[in-house]
Amino acid sequence: MNLLAAKNLSHTFEYELFHDVSLELEEGESIAIIGISGSGKSTLLHVLSTLLEPNRGEVLLFNENIAKLSKKRLAQIKRDSLGLVFQSHYLFKGFSAYENLEVASLLSQNEIDNTLLKKLGIDICINQKVTQLSGGQQQRVSIARVLTKKPRIIFADEPTGNLDKETAHDVMELFFEYCQNNKAGMVLVTHDEGLAFQCKKVYKLENKELLQVK
Ligand SMILES: Nc1ncnc2c1ncn2[C@@H]1O[C@H](COP(=O)(O)OP(=O)(O)OP(=O)(O)O)[C@@H](O)[C@H]1O
Ligand SMILES: [Mg+2]
Repeated sequence: MNLLAAKNLSHTFEYELFHDVSLELEEGESIAIIGISGSGKSTLLHVLSTLLEPNRGEVLLFNENIAKLSKKRLAQIKRDSLGLVFQSHYLFKGFSAYENLEVASLLSQNEIDNTLLKKLGIDICINQKVTQLSGGQQQRVSIARVLTKKPRIIFADEPTGNLDKETAHDVMELFFEYCQNNKAGMVLVTHDEGLAFQCKKVYKLENKELLQVK
């Protein structure tokens, strides 16, 4: 099944970032978007994940054109089916890591998966306050929170930016495993070409165009 289809997207802020770009994401698949700083990768991810309306083109999620959906239906899709892992973490700061996961667990009615916490290496710090955690630990807690939701599509913007190479590799493995086991898909934005090429497809945003390089 097609999870995401973007058709002929263009967007301009101060200058045009991308022009007439298209991509598709199928069940179980992962795609990476690479490109230099300022090329528009995060902006494109915002468009794909319903956070930003493009100047031109359309985005289909689960074969539904999001521009034509009611606010209610769109909110429902966002809540139930999309998982956003962005550069800032948006964890609840006054709570412990575990309490942050409990919120996701309550909202989605999915159990917290203890093996997931072990795999992410955050089982040891799970009862600490978010403010006491290192940047990389916070990043992994936010990944655990998103996966606890069990989304059909993960949108991740530099999700391993604060992690050492080995931990980053383990986290990527976890994402791939998640997508395979849950018929989900992932769109990954990263500067790290090594990580990008672990994905099934790789696109490069350059000179306003999106070129498929793998
Ligand atoms: N909300 C906004 N309003 C105005 N301009 C914006 C907005 N968001 C992004 N931009 C501009 O769009 C350009 C691309 O930004 P974007 O964050 O998409 O780049 P990026 O490829 O993700 O870069 P990086 O690799 O550094 O994260 C930048 O020049 C930025 O200033
Ligand atoms: Mg960015």
